[in-house]
Amino acid sequence: MKTVITLNINGDRYEVAVNPWRTLNEVLREDLKLTGTKLGCGTGDCGACTVLVDGKSVSSCLTLAIELEGREITTIEGLAPNSEELHPIQESFINKGAIQCGYCTPGMIMSTAHLLKQNPRPTEAEIRAGLSGNLCRCTGYNKIVDAIKDAAEKMSSSSD
Ligand code: FES
Ligand code: FES
Repeated sequence: MKTVITLNINGDRYEVAVNPWRTLNEVLREDLKLTGTKLGCGTGDCGACTVLVDGKSVSSCLTLAIELEGREITTIEGLAPNSEELHPIQESFINKGAIQCGYCTPGMIMSTAHLLKQNPRPTEAEIRAGLSGNLCRCTGYNKIVDAIKDAAEKMSSSSD
């Protein structure tokens, strides 16, 4: 039986009727058409589906939508400050060539947002550890690491 729940996503409230077994990823992509969040493995191994819940990165493929009433969900669509500007992490990924097919990119960027909130000036080893749950089959990771270093520098200097 479906239950109507209210989800807070990117500052907006959505009322959705969900079966208890539906994942956040399914509700985002299929019901709400927020398709920036990708579905890769569906088993918690690739990170393509990463979103933030109360600021922490979670795999939306493993999280039941019904558990998220009252929590703050942020997807890649909600990261930029407004519709005219990109978030600094998004800019750095573009500027450093860290995107090829782009399938991993939303998840990489959301994990980076979590990482830089926890640790605004991470070392390269900390960046690699922070992104260890996100797989990319295209870039070889080095440009992603460069993009994250660049974003960390920009974000730290703008908050100094
Ligand atoms: S789709 Fe969720 S971790 Fe791969
Ligand atoms: S850019 Fe293609 S999987 Fe990462």
